[in-house]
Amino acid sequence: MNIVQRRITFSNRKGGCGKTASAVNVAAALALLGRKVLLIDCDAQAHASISLGFFPYNTQKSLYDLLIGTYSSVLNVVQQSNFIKNLFVLPATSQLAAFELEFAGHTEARFRLSQLLLAKDASEFDYILMDPPPTVGLLSLMTLVSAKEVVIPVQLHFLGMEGLAEMVRYVYQVNATINPDIRITGIIPTFYNQSTRLAKNILDEIEKTMGKDIVLPPIRQNVSIAEAPSFGKCVLEYAPKSIGSEDFKRLAQLLDQKSKSR
Ligand SMILES: Nc1ncnc2c1ncn2[C@@H]1O[C@H](COP(=O)(O)OP(=O)(O)OP(=O)(O)O)[C@@H](O)[C@H]1O
Ligand SMILES: [Mg+2]
Repeated sequence: MNIVQRRITFSNRKGGCGKTASAVNVAAALALLGRKVLLIDCDAQAHASISLGFFPYNTQKSLYDLLIGTYSSVLNVVQQSNFIKNLFVLPATSQLAAFELEFAGHTEARFRLSQLLLAKDASEFDYILMDPPPTVGLLSLMTLVSAKEVVIPVQLHFLGMEGLAEMVRYVYQVNATINPDIRITGIIPTFYNQSTRLAKNILDEIEKTMGKDIVLPPIRQNVSIAEAPSFGKCVLEYAPKSIGSEDFKRLAQLLDQKSKSR
């Protein structure tokens, strides 16, 4: 494929709302659809890397080495998934926290990742997905500077709604100041439980304020999603028949359709 490469960050300042699970499993589902996918772990917690079996204690080269210039091409650092041949991971280690501290005052550091992704050798990927940390800092900003699209995973709770409003304001601010290409592709309702009135009310509220089209297919609460990372596998590999796997496949298909309608 690769007509226009899509660069998507799964962002939300709210912790634990399903960013990593979404980035990892959408990446896997898109790769299973035949797309060539690069998942960049931008969080020092390294949860996306671990979720695909790339444990920090075994990782020789990571995003940190690229950002500080030890390597000049993403292709020097990417690792191929053991399970899905089209899926590549740019892993993180806890060293990323050092990058955030060392370069906090350097305005140009926020452009490092986008420069690397605009290089010719990164153009072979159909999708570049990013998993940022929940903190407001250099690493999360760097993903908003490098991406063209933001997908916001949201838990349908009152505080989740507050976090969403804040995240939308932040994206508008980045759009107005640093990255005019960035836009919000959609919101993923995560840990979704359609039987609660709270979830339904909040979903109605989101649709009323942001429009129906903004809401992407939900990811239901499913224990297989939470179990899969301990085996270093995405849920599609760990429990292919689970509802988690089903939901992520549906979501990836819809996201992929959106590229055809551009
Ligand atoms: N739909 C789901 N059903 C059940 N468990 C889930 C679901 N989505 C995510 N989880 C689990 O919930 C926890 C938090 O999810 P995740 O790590 O994806 O959130 P996050 O937003 O990336 O967190 P952080 O802000 O720390 O980066 C993880 O243990 C994950 O496996
Ligand atoms: Mg995470």
